[in-house]
Amino acid sequence: MTDYIIAIDQGTTSTRAIVFDHSGSIVSTGQLEHDQIFPKAGWVEHDPKQIWDNTREVIGQALSKANITRHNVKAVGITNQRETAVVWDKNTGEPVYNAIVWQDTRTQAIVDRLSEDGGAERFKDTVGLPLSTYFAGTKIVWILENVEGARERAKSGDLLFGTTDTWVLWNLTGGVDGGVHATDVTNASRTLFMDLETLEWRDDILDVFGVPKSMLPAIKSSSEIYGTVHTSSLLREVPVAGILGDQQAATFGQAAFDAGEAKNTYGTGNFLIFNTGTEIVKSKNGLLTTLGYKLGDAEPHYALEGSIAVTGSLVQWLRDNLGLIKSAPEIEELAKTVEDNGGAYFVPAFSGLFAPYWRSDARGALVGLTRYVNKGHIARAALEATAFQTKEVLDAVNADSGVPLTELKVDGGMIANNLLMQFQADILDVPVVRPVVAETTALGAAYAAGLAVGYWADLDELRANWQEDSRWTPDLDSAERDRQYRNWKKAVTKTMDWVD
Ligand code: G3P
Repeated sequence: MTDYIIAIDQGTTSTRAIVFDHSGSIVSTGQLEHDQIFPKAGWVEHDPKQIWDNTREVIGQALSKANITRHNVKAVGITNQRETAVVWDKNTGEPVYNAIVWQDTRTQAIVDRLSEDGGAERFKDTVGLPLSTYFAGTKIVWILENVEGARERAKSGDLLFGTTDTWVLWNLTGGVDGGVHATDVTNASRTLFMDLETLEWRDDILDVFGVPKSMLPAIKSSSEIYGTVHTSSLLREVPVAGILGDQQAATFGQAAFDAGEAKNTYGTGNFLIFNTGTEIVKSKNGLLTTLGYKLGDAEPHYALEGSIAVTGSLVQWLRDNLGLIKSAPEIEELAKTVEDNGGAYFVPAFSGLFAPYWRSDARGALVGLTRYVNKGHIARAALEATAFQTKEVLDAVNADSGVPLTELKVDGGMIANNLLMQFQADILDVPVVRPVVAETTALGAAYAAGLAVGYWADLDELRANWQEDSRWTPDLDSAERDRQYRNWKKAVTKTMDWVD
Protein backbone atom coordinates (compact mmCIF):
# COMPACT_ATOMS: atom_id res chain seq x y z
CA MET A 1 0.00 0.00 0.00
CA THR A 2 1.41 3.37 -1.01
CA ASP A 3 1.47 6.06 1.64
CA TYR A 4 0.87 9.77 1.15
CA ILE A 5 0.83 13.06 3.04
CA ILE A 6 -2.11 15.43 2.79
CA ALA A 7 -1.73 19.20 3.13
CA ILE A 8 -4.55 21.61 3.88
CA ASP A 9 -3.88 25.07 2.47
CA GLN A 10 -6.35 27.49 4.05
CA GLY A 11 -5.66 30.53 1.84
CA THR A 12 -7.17 33.99 1.44
CA THR A 13 -9.43 33.11 -1.48
CA SER A 14 -9.81 29.35 -1.22
CA THR A 15 -9.15 26.26 0.85
CA ARG A 16 -7.39 23.34 -0.74
CA ALA A 17 -6.42 19.84 0.23
CA ILE A 18 -3.54 18.34 -1.73
CA VAL A 19 -2.30 14.77 -1.59
CA PHE A 20 1.48 14.44 -2.14
CA ASP A 21 3.58 11.37 -2.78
CA HIS A 22 7.10 10.65 -1.63
CA SER A 23 8.72 12.48 -4.56
CA GLY A 24 6.80 15.64 -3.57
CA SER A 25 4.54 15.34 -6.63
CA ILE A 26 0.85 16.19 -6.51
CA VAL A 27 -1.46 13.17 -6.62
CA SER A 28 -4.79 14.99 -6.28
CA THR A 29 -6.31 18.31 -5.24
CA GLY A 30 -9.62 19.40 -3.73
CA GLN A 31 -10.43 23.11 -3.76
CA LEU A 32 -13.29 25.43 -2.78
CA GLU A 33 -13.43 29.23 -2.72
CA HIS A 34 -15.06 31.04 0.17
CA ASP A 35 -16.90 34.36 0.26
CA GLN A 36 -14.98 37.60 0.45
CA ILE A 37 -17.08 39.86 2.65
CA PHE A 38 -16.55 43.63 2.33
CA PRO A 39 -18.96 45.29 4.79
CA LYS A 40 -17.36 48.76 4.47
CA ALA A 41 -14.45 50.43 2.70
CA GLY A 42 -11.25 48.90 4.06
CA TRP A 43 -13.03 46.01 5.83
CA VAL A 44 -12.44 42.41 4.71
CA GLU A 45 -14.02 39.40 6.45
CA HIS A 46 -14.38 35.64 6.00
CA ASP A 47 -16.95 33.32 7.55
CA PRO A 48 -14.99 30.85 9.75
CA LYS A 49 -17.79 28.27 9.60
CA GLN A 50 -17.74 28.32 5.82
CA ILE A 51 -13.96 27.87 5.91
CA TRP A 52 -14.30 24.85 8.19
CA ASP A 53 -17.11 23.33 6.07
CA ASN A 54 -14.97 23.82 2.96
CA THR A 55 -11.99 22.23 4.69
CA ARG A 56 -13.95 19.06 5.38
CA GLU A 57 -15.27 18.99 1.87
CA VAL A 58 -11.94 19.52 0.08
CA ILE A 59 -10.38 16.74 2.15
CA GLY A 60 -13.13 14.44 0.82
CA GLN A 61 -12.54 15.66 -2.75
CA ALA A 62 -8.79 15.08 -2.57
CA LEU A 63 -9.10 11.60 -1.04
CA SER A 64 -11.69 10.44 -3.54
CA LYS A 65 -9.81 11.86 -6.56
CA ALA A 66 -6.70 10.01 -5.42
CA ASN A 67 -8.84 6.96 -4.75
CA ILE A 68 -7.36 6.52 -1.28
CA THR A 69 -8.62 6.42 2.30
CA ARG A 70 -7.20 7.60 5.62
CA HIS A 71 -5.26 4.33 5.81
CA ASN A 72 -2.97 5.62 3.03
CA VAL A 73 -2.37 8.97 4.75
CA LYS A 74 0.62 9.13 7.10
CA ALA A 75 0.09 12.68 8.32
CA VAL A 76 -1.74 15.97 7.78
CA GLY A 77 0.02 19.31 7.41
CA ILE A 78 -1.72 22.68 7.69
CA THR A 79 -0.73 25.94 6.05
CA ASN A 80 -2.75 29.12 6.12
CA GLN A 81 -3.31 32.75 5.28
CA ARG A 82 -1.51 34.37 8.19
CA GLU A 83 -2.68 37.19 10.54
CA THR A 84 -6.39 36.61 9.82
CA ALA A 85 -8.02 36.52 13.26
CA VAL A 86 -10.81 34.21 14.43
CA VAL A 87 -12.30 34.43 17.94
CA TRP A 88 -14.72 31.72 19.05
CA ASP A 89 -16.46 30.31 22.09
CA LYS A 90 -14.71 27.18 23.26
CA ASN A 91 -17.93 25.75 24.73
CA THR A 92 -20.03 26.01 21.57
CA GLY A 93 -17.44 26.26 18.79
CA GLU A 94 -19.30 29.35 17.50
CA PRO A 95 -17.23 32.28 16.24
CA VAL A 96 -18.21 35.51 18.01
CA TYR A 97 -17.58 37.49 14.83
CA ASN A 98 -16.44 36.86 11.27
CA ALA A 99 -12.73 36.31 10.74
CA ILE A 100 -11.03 39.69 10.28
CA VAL A 101 -8.73 39.23 7.31
CA TRP A 102 -5.09 40.31 7.11
CA GLN A 103 -5.96 42.90 4.42
CA ASP A 104 -8.50 44.64 6.67
CA THR A 105 -7.59 48.19 7.78
CA ARG A 106 -10.37 48.89 10.31
CA THR A 107 -7.97 48.85 13.24
CA GLN A 108 -6.15 52.03 12.22
CA ALA A 109 -7.47 53.94 15.26
CA ILE A 110 -6.25 51.14 17.55
CA VAL A 111 -2.83 51.25 15.86
CA ASP A 112 -2.68 55.03 16.33
CA ARG A 113 -3.70 54.75 19.99
CA LEU A 114 -1.09 52.08 20.70
CA SER A 115 1.57 54.10 18.85
CA GLU A 116 1.03 57.20 21.00
CA ASP A 117 3.40 55.93 23.64
CA GLY A 118 6.62 55.00 21.82
CA GLY A 119 5.62 55.11 18.16
CA ALA A 120 4.72 52.40 15.67
CA GLU A 121 8.01 50.58 16.22
CA ARG A 122 7.73 50.34 19.99
CA PHE A 123 7.62 46.52 20.03
CA LYS A 124 9.62 45.90 16.85
CA ASP A 125 12.82 44.87 18.59
CA THR A 126 10.98 42.17 20.53
CA VAL A 127 8.44 40.90 18.01
CA GLY A 128 9.99 41.89 14.66
CA LEU A 129 6.92 43.83 13.50
CA PRO A 130 5.77 47.45 13.53
CA LEU A 131 2.31 48.24 14.84
CA SER A 132 0.07 47.88 11.79
CA THR A 133 -3.47 46.94 10.90
CA TYR A 134 -1.95 43.95 9.07
CA PHE A 135 -1.17 41.85 12.13
CA ALA A 136 -3.58 39.76 14.17
CA GLY A 137 -3.11 41.56 17.52
CA THR A 138 -5.06 44.70 16.71
CA LYS A 139 -7.83 42.64 15.13
CA ILE A 140 -8.36 40.76 18.43
CA VAL A 141 -8.55 44.10 20.24
CA TRP A 142 -11.20 45.29 17.78
CA ILE A 143 -13.34 42.20 18.43
CA LEU A 144 -12.99 42.58 22.21
CA GLU A 145 -13.97 46.25 21.97
CA ASN A 146 -16.80 45.95 19.46
CA VAL A 147 -18.58 42.64 19.95
CA GLU A 148 -21.05 42.87 22.78
CA GLY A 149 -19.97 40.90 25.84
CA ALA A 150 -16.77 39.67 24.17
CA ARG A 151 -14.39 41.23 26.69
CA GLU A 152 -16.19 39.70 29.67
CA ARG A 153 -16.41 36.29 28.00
CA ALA A 154 -12.72 36.49 27.11
CA LYS A 155 -11.81 37.42 30.68
CA SER A 156 -13.78 34.50 32.05
CA GLY A 157 -11.83 32.15 29.78
CA ASP A 158 -14.64 31.23 27.38
CA LEU A 159 -13.17 32.67 24.20
CA LEU A 160 -10.31 31.36 22.12
CA PHE A 161 -8.29 33.16 19.46
CA GLY A 162 -6.58 31.61 16.50
CA THR A 163 -5.24 32.35 13.07
CA THR A 164 -6.87 30.02 10.57
CA ASP A 165 -4.31 27.22 11.14
CA THR A 166 -5.48 27.12 14.75
CA TRP A 167 -9.14 27.28 13.78
CA VAL A 168 -8.70 24.33 11.39
CA LEU A 169 -6.54 22.36 13.85
CA TRP A 170 -9.00 22.85 16.73
CA ASN A 171 -11.93 21.69 14.60
CA LEU A 172 -10.03 18.85 12.95
CA THR A 173 -8.99 17.45 16.31
CA GLY A 174 -12.48 17.49 17.81
CA GLY A 175 -13.58 21.10 18.41
CA VAL A 176 -15.72 21.27 21.57
CA ASP A 177 -14.89 17.59 22.03
CA GLY A 178 -11.26 18.12 23.09
CA GLY A 179 -9.91 20.09 20.10
CA VAL A 180 -6.22 21.01 20.31
CA HIS A 181 -5.72 24.76 20.70
CA ALA A 182 -2.26 25.38 19.29
CA THR A 183 -0.34 27.23 16.60
CA ASP A 184 3.22 27.12 15.31
CA VAL A 185 6.00 29.67 15.75
CA THR A 186 5.62 31.11 12.25
CA ASN A 187 1.97 32.01 12.77
CA ALA A 188 2.58 33.17 16.33
CA SER A 189 5.23 35.55 14.96
CA ARG A 190 2.48 37.43 13.05
CA THR A 191 0.40 38.46 16.05
CA LEU A 192 2.63 41.20 17.59
CA PHE A 193 2.64 39.16 20.83
CA MET A 194 5.48 36.60 20.46
CA ASP A 195 9.01 37.26 21.64
CA LEU A 196 11.35 36.29 18.78
CA GLU A 197 14.00 35.00 21.17
CA THR A 198 12.03 33.02 23.74
CA LEU A 199 9.22 32.01 21.32
CA GLU A 200 6.74 32.73 24.10
CA TRP A 201 3.84 35.17 24.42
CA ARG A 202 4.90 38.46 26.05
CA ASP A 203 2.78 39.24 29.11
CA ASP A 204 3.76 42.91 29.06
CA ILE A 205 2.64 43.37 25.46
CA LEU A 206 -0.61 41.48 26.09
CA ASP A 207 -1.25 43.86 29.00
CA VAL A 208 -0.76 46.89 26.78
CA PHE A 209 -3.21 45.44 24.24
CA GLY A 210 -5.65 44.26 26.95
CA VAL A 211 -5.77 40.72 25.53
CA PRO A 212 -6.18 37.89 28.08
CA LYS A 213 -3.51 35.23 27.67
CA SER A 214 -6.10 32.48 28.16
CA MET A 215 -7.39 33.23 24.65
CA LEU A 216 -4.10 32.44 22.98
CA PRO A 217 -3.08 29.06 21.57
CA ALA A 218 -0.05 27.12 22.78
CA ILE A 219 3.00 27.90 20.64
CA LYS A 220 4.51 24.74 19.12
CA SER A 221 7.19 23.97 16.57
CA SER A 222 6.30 23.74 12.87
CA SER A 223 6.90 19.99 12.71
CA GLU A 224 5.63 17.72 15.49
CA ILE A 225 2.50 15.74 16.27
CA TYR A 226 -0.03 18.23 17.68
CA GLY A 227 -2.83 15.69 17.94
CA THR A 228 -4.81 13.25 15.82
CA VAL A 229 -7.84 13.88 13.67
CA HIS A 230 -11.16 13.36 15.48
CA THR A 231 -13.22 10.26 14.87
CA SER A 232 -15.95 12.29 13.15
CA SER A 233 -13.67 13.09 10.20
CA LEU A 234 -12.71 11.16 7.07
CA LEU A 235 -9.10 11.35 8.23
CA ARG A 236 -9.82 10.00 11.71
CA GLU A 237 -6.80 9.09 13.81
CA VAL A 238 -4.31 10.46 11.28
CA PRO A 239 -1.72 12.63 13.08
CA VAL A 240 -1.70 16.36 12.39
CA ALA A 241 2.03 16.92 12.31
CA GLY A 242 2.97 20.14 10.51
CA ILE A 243 1.90 23.80 10.63
CA LEU A 244 3.52 26.69 8.76
CA GLY A 245 2.10 30.07 7.79
CA ASP A 246 1.64 30.01 4.02
CA GLN A 247 4.61 32.19 3.12
CA GLN A 248 6.96 30.25 5.36
CA ALA A 249 5.47 27.03 3.96
CA ALA A 250 6.24 28.19 0.42
CA THR A 251 9.82 28.93 1.48
CA PHE A 252 10.07 25.43 2.94
CA GLY A 253 8.46 23.90 -0.15
CA GLN A 254 11.06 25.70 -2.28
CA ALA A 255 13.72 23.92 -0.20
CA ALA A 256 15.10 27.34 0.84
CA PHE A 257 16.22 25.83 4.15
CA ASP A 258 19.52 27.67 4.63
CA ALA A 259 20.64 31.20 5.39
CA GLY A 260 20.88 33.28 2.21
CA GLU A 261 18.13 31.38 0.35
CA ALA A 262 14.90 33.13 -0.62
CA LYS A 263 11.62 32.85 -2.50
CA ASN A 264 8.91 35.18 -3.72
CA THR A 265 5.26 34.06 -3.80
CA TYR A 266 2.80 35.74 -6.17
CA GLY A 267 -0.66 35.32 -4.58
CA THR A 268 -3.33 37.85 -3.64
CA GLY A 269 -0.33 39.71 -2.26
CA ASN A 270 3.38 39.06 -2.73
CA PHE A 271 5.68 37.89 0.01
CA LEU A 272 9.42 37.69 -0.37
CA ILE A 273 11.06 35.65 2.37
CA PHE A 274 14.81 35.61 2.90
CA ASN A 275 16.15 32.94 5.25
CA THR A 276 18.64 34.33 7.79
CA GLY A 277 19.36 30.97 9.45
CA THR A 278 19.45 30.84 13.23
CA GLU A 279 20.27 34.56 13.42
CA ILE A 280 17.62 37.18 14.21
CA VAL A 281 18.35 40.00 11.75
CA LYS A 282 16.72 43.34 12.45
CA SER A 283 15.87 45.22 9.29
CA LYS A 284 17.04 48.77 8.69
CA ASN A 285 15.08 48.94 5.45
CA GLY A 286 11.42 48.35 6.25
CA LEU A 287 11.35 44.55 6.30
CA LEU A 288 9.79 42.37 8.97
CA THR A 289 11.72 39.94 11.12
CA THR A 290 9.79 36.71 11.34
CA LEU A 291 10.14 33.01 12.10
CA GLY A 292 11.14 30.86 9.12
CA TYR A 293 10.50 27.44 10.61
CA LYS A 294 11.28 25.29 13.63
CA LEU A 295 11.53 21.53 13.31
CA GLY A 296 10.65 19.85 16.61
CA ASP A 297 13.26 20.58 19.25
CA ALA A 298 15.85 21.92 16.78
CA GLU A 299 16.85 25.58 16.81
CA PRO A 300 14.46 27.94 15.02
CA HIS A 301 15.28 29.50 11.65
CA TYR A 302 14.48 33.17 11.18
CA ALA A 303 13.76 35.23 8.10
CA LEU A 304 13.43 38.74 6.76
CA GLU A 305 10.17 39.35 4.94
CA GLY A 306 9.02 41.89 2.41
CA SER A 307 5.21 41.79 2.44
CA ILE A 308 3.23 43.42 -0.35
CA ALA A 309 -0.51 43.67 0.29
CA VAL A 310 -1.89 43.84 -3.23
CA THR A 311 -0.59 42.07 -6.35
CA GLY A 312 -2.88 39.28 -7.65
CA SER A 313 -5.85 40.90 -5.91
CA LEU A 314 -5.36 43.91 -8.21
CA VAL A 315 -6.10 41.60 -11.14
CA GLN A 316 -9.21 40.33 -9.31
CA TRP A 317 -10.23 43.95 -8.72
CA LEU A 318 -9.91 44.74 -12.45
CA ARG A 319 -12.10 41.68 -13.09
CA ASP A 320 -14.71 42.11 -10.33
CA ASN A 321 -14.93 45.86 -9.74
CA LEU A 322 -14.18 47.25 -13.21
CA GLY A 323 -15.18 44.32 -15.46
CA LEU A 324 -12.04 44.95 -17.54
CA ILE A 325 -11.49 41.21 -17.95
CA LYS A 326 -13.71 38.16 -17.44
CA SER A 327 -11.16 35.86 -15.88
CA ALA A 328 -7.84 36.58 -14.19
CA PRO A 329 -5.62 34.88 -16.83
CA GLU A 330 -7.09 37.20 -19.52
CA ILE A 331 -5.01 40.02 -18.07
CA GLU A 332 -1.96 38.71 -19.93
CA GLU A 333 -3.74 38.75 -23.32
CA LEU A 334 -5.01 42.26 -22.67
CA ALA A 335 -1.57 43.48 -21.60
CA LYS A 336 -0.04 41.96 -24.72
CA THR A 337 -2.21 44.14 -26.98
CA VAL A 338 0.17 47.03 -26.24
CA GLU A 339 3.95 47.45 -26.39
CA ASP A 340 4.39 49.10 -23.01
CA ASN A 341 2.48 50.85 -20.21
CA GLY A 342 1.89 53.99 -22.33
CA GLY A 343 3.16 56.12 -19.44
CA ALA A 344 0.63 54.76 -16.89
CA TYR A 345 1.66 53.59 -13.41
CA PHE A 346 -0.76 51.89 -11.04
CA VAL A 347 0.10 51.80 -7.33
CA PRO A 348 -2.47 49.48 -5.72
CA ALA A 349 -2.25 50.77 -2.14
CA PHE A 350 -5.74 49.40 -1.37
CA SER A 351 -4.72 48.28 2.14
CA GLY A 352 -2.23 51.08 2.61
CA LEU A 353 1.37 50.31 1.66
CA PHE A 354 3.17 47.45 3.37
CA ALA A 355 6.93 46.88 2.94
CA PRO A 356 9.09 48.84 2.78
CA TYR A 357 6.88 51.86 3.57
CA TRP A 358 4.37 50.70 6.21
CA ARG A 359 2.01 53.58 5.45
CA SER A 360 -1.55 52.64 6.30
CA ASP A 361 -2.67 56.13 5.28
CA ALA A 362 -1.83 55.40 1.64
CA ARG A 363 -4.52 54.62 -0.93
CA GLY A 364 -4.29 53.45 -4.55
CA ALA A 365 -3.37 55.71 -7.45
CA LEU A 366 -3.32 55.38 -11.23
CA VAL A 367 -1.08 58.13 -12.59
CA GLY A 368 0.52 59.26 -15.85
CA LEU A 369 -2.80 59.16 -17.73
CA THR A 370 -3.29 60.79 -21.11
CA ARG A 371 -5.94 60.21 -23.79
CA TYR A 372 -3.50 57.80 -25.39
CA VAL A 373 -3.86 55.32 -22.50
CA ASN A 374 -6.24 52.42 -23.16
CA LYS A 375 -7.29 49.33 -21.24
CA GLY A 376 -4.29 47.38 -22.52
CA HIS A 377 -1.98 49.94 -20.91
CA ILE A 378 -3.91 49.72 -17.66
CA ALA A 379 -3.65 45.92 -17.69
CA ARG A 380 0.05 46.27 -18.29
CA ALA A 381 0.47 48.86 -15.54
CA ALA A 382 -1.36 46.51 -13.16
CA LEU A 383 1.01 43.63 -13.91
CA GLU A 384 4.05 45.89 -13.75
CA ALA A 385 2.93 47.07 -10.30
CA THR A 386 3.63 43.55 -9.01
CA ALA A 387 7.14 43.59 -10.46
CA PHE A 388 7.99 47.11 -9.23
CA GLN A 389 6.77 46.37 -5.72
CA THR A 390 8.89 43.22 -5.72
CA LYS A 391 11.92 45.26 -6.77
CA GLU A 392 11.38 47.55 -3.82
CA VAL A 393 11.41 44.69 -1.34
CA LEU A 394 14.31 42.93 -3.04
CA ASP A 395 16.35 46.14 -2.83
CA ALA A 396 15.56 46.23 0.89
CA VAL A 397 16.59 42.57 1.32
CA ASN A 398 19.86 43.21 -0.52
CA ALA A 399 20.56 46.29 1.60
CA ASP A 400 19.84 44.45 4.87
CA SER A 401 21.79 41.32 4.00
CA GLY A 402 24.69 43.05 2.23
CA VAL A 403 24.88 40.13 -0.21
CA PRO A 404 22.71 40.73 -3.31
CA LEU A 405 20.54 37.79 -4.42
CA THR A 406 21.74 36.41 -7.74
CA GLU A 407 18.46 34.79 -8.74
CA LEU A 408 14.90 34.69 -7.44
CA LYS A 409 12.88 31.49 -6.87
CA VAL A 410 9.20 32.16 -7.52
CA ASP A 411 5.88 30.40 -6.96
CA GLY A 412 2.16 31.18 -6.67
CA GLY A 413 -0.69 31.69 -9.13
CA MET A 414 0.67 34.69 -11.03
CA ILE A 415 3.84 32.93 -12.16
CA ALA A 416 1.79 31.38 -14.95
CA ASN A 417 1.90 34.86 -16.48
CA ASN A 418 4.91 34.91 -18.81
CA LEU A 419 4.73 38.60 -19.55
CA LEU A 420 4.91 39.38 -15.84
CA MET A 421 7.75 36.94 -15.18
CA GLN A 422 9.83 38.36 -18.04
CA PHE A 423 9.18 41.91 -16.86
CA GLN A 424 10.08 40.82 -13.33
CA ALA A 425 13.46 39.51 -14.49
CA ASP A 426 13.99 42.69 -16.56
CA ILE A 427 13.22 45.05 -13.68
CA LEU A 428 15.20 43.08 -11.08
CA ASP A 429 18.08 42.39 -13.46
CA VAL A 430 18.42 38.87 -12.03
CA PRO A 431 17.04 35.60 -13.41
CA VAL A 432 13.66 34.42 -12.12
CA VAL A 433 13.30 30.67 -11.64
CA ARG A 434 10.25 28.46 -11.10
CA PRO A 435 10.26 24.86 -9.83
CA VAL A 436 8.40 21.91 -11.37
CA VAL A 437 6.05 21.68 -8.37
CA ALA A 438 4.78 25.25 -8.21
CA GLU A 439 2.35 24.43 -5.35
CA THR A 440 5.15 25.08 -2.91
CA THR A 441 2.87 26.34 -0.13
CA ALA A 442 1.01 23.07 0.29
CA LEU A 443 4.21 21.13 -0.39
CA GLY A 444 5.98 22.94 2.47
CA ALA A 445 3.23 21.99 4.91
CA ALA A 446 3.34 18.40 3.66
CA TYR A 447 7.13 18.36 4.15
CA ALA A 448 6.82 19.65 7.73
CA ALA A 449 4.22 16.98 8.55
CA GLY A 450 6.08 14.21 6.72
CA LEU A 451 9.35 14.97 8.52
CA ALA A 452 7.61 14.71 11.91
CA VAL A 453 6.33 11.18 11.22
CA GLY A 454 9.44 9.91 9.42
CA TYR A 455 7.85 9.84 5.95
CA TRP A 456 10.85 11.86 4.80
CA ALA A 457 14.15 11.33 6.59
CA ASP A 458 15.77 14.75 6.45
CA LEU A 459 16.15 18.05 4.61
CA ASP A 460 18.61 16.57 2.10
CA GLU A 461 15.94 14.21 0.89
CA LEU A 462 13.58 17.16 0.37
CA ARG A 463 16.25 19.24 -1.35
CA ALA A 464 16.69 16.45 -3.89
CA ASN A 465 13.00 16.80 -4.81
CA TRP A 466 13.42 20.42 -6.01
CA GLN A 467 13.72 20.67 -9.79
CA GLU A 468 13.87 23.69 -12.07
CA ASP A 469 11.05 24.05 -14.58
CA SER A 470 11.50 27.46 -16.25
CA ARG A 471 13.86 30.40 -16.09
CA TRP A 472 13.37 33.99 -17.26
CA THR A 473 16.58 35.91 -18.03
CA PRO A 474 16.84 39.73 -17.86
CA ASP A 475 16.70 41.46 -21.24
CA LEU A 476 16.25 45.21 -20.76
CA ASP A 477 18.90 47.90 -21.03
CA SER A 478 19.81 49.53 -17.77
CA ALA A 479 18.87 53.12 -18.75
CA GLU A 480 15.32 52.01 -19.60
CA ARG A 481 15.09 49.96 -16.43
CA ASP A 482 16.18 52.92 -14.33
CA ARG A 483 13.78 55.28 -16.07
CA GLN A 484 10.78 53.06 -15.44
CA TYR A 485 11.72 52.43 -11.83
CA ARG A 486 12.18 56.18 -11.23
CA ASN A 487 8.67 56.76 -12.58
CA TRP A 488 7.30 54.05 -10.34
CA LYS A 489 8.91 55.64 -7.27
CA LYS A 490 7.39 58.98 -8.25
CA ALA A 491 3.96 57.34 -8.58
CA VAL A 492 4.29 55.86 -5.08
CA THR A 493 4.72 59.34 -3.60
CA LYS A 494 1.25 60.22 -4.94
CA THR A 495 -0.46 57.62 -2.73
CA MET A 496 0.50 58.88 0.72
CA ASP A 497 -1.57 60.94 3.17
CA TRP A 498 -4.95 59.99 1.75
CA VAL A 499 -6.56 58.98 5.02
CA ASP A 500 -7.46 61.87 7.35
O1 G3P B 1 0.26 37.49 5.18
C1 G3P B 1 -0.82 37.15 4.38
C2 G3P B 1 -0.53 35.90 3.61
O2 G3P B 1 -0.23 34.86 4.45
C3 G3P B 1 -1.69 35.59 2.69
O3 G3P B 1 -1.30 34.76 1.69
O4 G3P B 1 -1.48 33.43 -0.34
O5 G3P B 1 -3.44 33.59 1.17
O6 G3P B 1 -2.75 35.55 -0.17
P1 G3P B 1 -2.31 34.30 0.51
